[in-house]
Amino acid sequence: MSIERILDPRLRDRIVTAEAAAALIQPGETVAMSGFTGSGYPKAVPMALAHRIEATHQAGQPFQIKLMTGASTAPELDGALAKADGIALRMPFQTDPDARQRINAGTLDYIDIHLSHVAQHVWFGFYGDIDTAVIEVSAIREDGALVPSTSIGNNKTWLDLAKKVIIEVNEWQPANIDGMHDIYYGTALPPERKPIPLVAAGERIGQTTLRCDPDKIVAVVRTNGPDRNSPFAPADETSRLIAGHLIEFLQHEVAKGRLPANLLPLQSGVGNIPNAVLAGLADSGFRELEAFTEVIQDGMLDLLKSGVLRHASCTGFALSPDANEEFKRNIDFYRERIIMRTQEISNHPELVRRLGCIGMNGMIEVDLYGNVNSTHVMGSRIMNGIGGSGDFARNGFLSAFLSPSTAKNGTISAIVPMVSHVDHTEHDVSVIVTEQGLADLRGLTPKQRAQQVIAQCAHPDYRAQLQDYFDRACRDSYGKHTPHLLPEALSWHQRWLDSGTMQAASPGAA
Ligand code: COA
Repeated sequence: MSIERILDPRLRDRIVTAEAAAALIQPGETVAMSGFTGSGYPKAVPMALAHRIEATHQAGQPFQIKLMTGASTAPELDGALAKADGIALRMPFQTDPDARQRINAGTLDYIDIHLSHVAQHVWFGFYGDIDTAVIEVSAIREDGALVPSTSIGNNKTWLDLAKKVIIEVNEWQPANIDGMHDIYYGTALPPERKPIPLVAAGERIGQTTLRCDPDKIVAVVRTNGPDRNSPFAPADETSRLIAGHLIEFLQHEVAKGRLPANLLPLQSGVGNIPNAVLAGLADSGFRELEAFTEVIQDGMLDLLKSGVLRHASCTGFALSPDANEEFKRNIDFYRERIIMRTQEISNHPELVRRLGCIGMNGMIEVDLYGNVNSTHVMGSRIMNGIGGSGDFARNGFLSAFLSPSTAKNGTISAIVPMVSHVDHTEHDVSVIVTEQGLADLRGLTPKQRAQQVIAQCAHPDYRAQLQDYFDRACRDSYGKHTPHLLPEALSWHQRWLDSGTMQAASPGAA
C-alpha cells in the first residue's frame, strides 16, 4: 500500500498497526469515534480493540469503554465492540442488532439524544472528558490538515477535545473527495455565540479540512476497506403509495402558494420509504430542488444526477454498493453539488428554522392527536434512536412522519390511542402519511386531528376500533380538550404483548 496519502512527515513516523493503536486505549476510557450512518467510521482499530477486550475478558479482567460517534456505524465498530461486551455506555445513535439486543437486555447503557445536541453537550462538559478519538480520514496533507472521508459527524469536536487521537487513513475512500467538505470553525459556547452565517443550503462557510494539534496524534493506521454500503430494497407498493401521497401534498402546497415552486430545502431520513419519496420526486415535475439534510442516500444521488436537485448539504452518506460506485466514478460532478458539514451545522436548529426545511422521517407509531414515537417498540424496546428527526421536526417549515399503517403482519396498528413513548410531540408534527393516505394536522384542534388521522391514515382493520375509542373518550374523558380513557389508552400495546395482536374481539371491547 502506498503512503502518499500521508504527506505530513511528522505523522508518517507515527504509522503503526491497528493492534498497536488499539493498545493505546485503556479500560474505562471515553472513546469518541468517527462514523455516521455507516460511512466514514474507523475500520481497523475498533476491530483490534474488540479482540483485545475479548482477550482481556478471557484472562478474567474487566475491559469496557464509553463509546460516542456521530451516529450509527457498522458491524466492524458497534457490532464488534458490542459482541465483545466492550461497551459500557453508548451515545448518541446506533442501529446495530448486537448492540440493540444488549441495550434491550439491560446490559449495555444507551443515551439517545438529538444529533444536533451531541457536540455542544460534550463541549458543555455533560459527558466528562474524551480520552481518545479514533477518526477515519481520506488523507493527511503536508501541513497536517486532515481531509475527511465520507462522513464528518462530530469529528471536529472529537479532534478538538480528545486528549489523544488515533487517525485511520482509508485508501478505499476516493482521494478526490478533497474539497467536498465545509468545516465551520466559528461556533462558540454561550454567552459568546454568534449567528451562524449560512443563509442558503448551497453556501459554504468554512474550510475543506479538519485540524488537529499534531502533538495529540499518537498513532496513524493505514486501512483500505469499504463503508457499510447496504443495498436498498426496491420500493414496494406501500412505499410507493406513501411517497405518492406526500408528493401530491407538496404539489398541493405549491398550488396554494404556501411553498415555492422548487419547495424548500428537503431533509430526508434514511430507509426504504424516504428513498421511495426521493425516487418519486424524480418524476414529479419538481425542478431546482435543494437538500439540507444529514444523509445522502441513493435516491438523492439520482436526483442530483438528473438535475432535479441542484445541490445537497449533508454530514454523511448511506449508499448501496452500486450507488457508491457511481459516486466514485463521477465524484468531480458530485463535489460541485454536495457540501459535507459537521453534524452540529447539518442539524442546527438555527439553520433548519432559517432555511425552512421540510422534514420527512419514519416513525414507529403515532397517536390520535399527532404525538409520534420514533424509537421504542411497545414503549420499552429501543429500535434505533431519535437521530436527527427531532432537530428537523421541531424547527423545520413543516414536518412529515411516514410509516405503513400496520406492522408485524397487520398485528400492530401504527395509529394507536396513545403512543407508548413520545419523541415528537403533537406540537412538532405537521403531517402523517401512511399507505392509506395523508393527514394534514396543521391548524387543527386535537379532536379535529384525531378525526383526520383515523379517516386518512388508519388501516381499515383498525379504523372502527380507533373510532370507537375516540367516541367513548369524547363522551367519558375527564377533560374534553384531548379526550382519553386512561385505563384503555395503552391497552392496545398490552393486548399485543399478551395475545400477539392489537385487534380487539369487537370494537366495544376496546
Ligand atoms: N410496532 C412494532 N414494531 C414496529 C412498528 C410498530 N408500530 N413499526 C415498525 N416496526 C418495526 C418493523 O416491524 C421493523 O422490524 P424488523 O426490523 O424486526 O423487521 C422495524 O421496526 C423497522 O421498520 P420498517 O418498517 O422496516 O421501517 P424503517 O426501516 O423505515 O424504520 C424507524 C422505521 C422508525 C425505525 C426508523 O425510521 C427510525 O429509526 N427512525 C428514527 C430515527 C430517524 O428518524 N432518523 C432520521 C433522521 S437521522
